Amino acid sequence: MSVRDVAQADAGIAPVTLRPVTWRDIPRLADIETELFGPEAWSEATWWAELAGRPRREYLALVDGDDTLAGYAGLDHGGEVADVMTVAVVPSRRGAGLGDRLVAELVRRAAATNAEAVLLEVRADNAAAVRLYARQGFEQVAVRRHYYRPAGPPVVAGAAGVGAGSTDALVMRLALAPDDKSSVSRVGRDEQR
Ligand SMILES: CC(C)(COP(=O)(O)OP(=O)(O)OC[C@H]1O[C@@H](n2cnc3c(N)ncnc32)[C@H](O)[C@@H]1OP(=O)(O)O)[C@@H](O)C(=O)NCCC(=O)NCCS
Repeated sequence: MSVRDVAQADAGIAPVTLRPVTWRDIPRLADIETELFGPEAWSEATWWAELAGRPRREYLALVDGDDTLAGYAGLDHGGEVADVMTVAVVPSRRGAGLGDRLVAELVRRAAATNAEAVLLEVRADNAAAVRLYARQGFEQVAVRRHYYRPAGPPVVAGAAGVGAGSTDALVMRLALAPDDKSSVSRVGRDEQR
């Protein structure tokens, strides 16, 4: 795997480079998370823990020429199934294919292991993300009712008060063609967005 993959930008859009997320990105990532995800944002502590999970966890950043973060995404290499941990593009850079590029790269990296499928959970009301994943070939395989609370972590099924204001999670899956897979394998997973 090359350390840096230069991604060709769409016409009129500044070129972006794909590189691994490092600890130096953590303060900025936590800021972006707060802006994008509010109460569900990953804190700096969460990012430290996620980066400590490498190489099972793999996080990629899309950066401009001056290394400004335009987006990021992460994968858990769990063996037969790779889980998408997060995908995000900063608001000012949306609608230019960066989300597609990030998801396509996650799929490519999952396919480079022994993964047979890529799995993810997405809020049912996140239309832009659901469209993005569907465009990339993901299919809905399950619904987790009342999975997201209005604020806070995923709810426990059957817990008191579940329902009011909560949002379903769609579980989406992409099967990887056997030809896409190499002989490299990795292991394991945890908190997922
Ligand atoms: C979901 C998200 C990652 C999409 O990122 P993005 O960079 O805007 O994604 P894309 O640019 O690839 O696609 C967005 C739209 O732009 C369109 N588009 C892509 N390239 C384009 C281009 N060159 N010109 C015009 N439109 C384009 C796509 O067709 C798509 O259209 P749609 O809205 O009708 O589906 C982004 O909205 C985001 O970060 N949301 C907040 C975080 C989040 O919800 N993450 C998912 C958690 S599971």
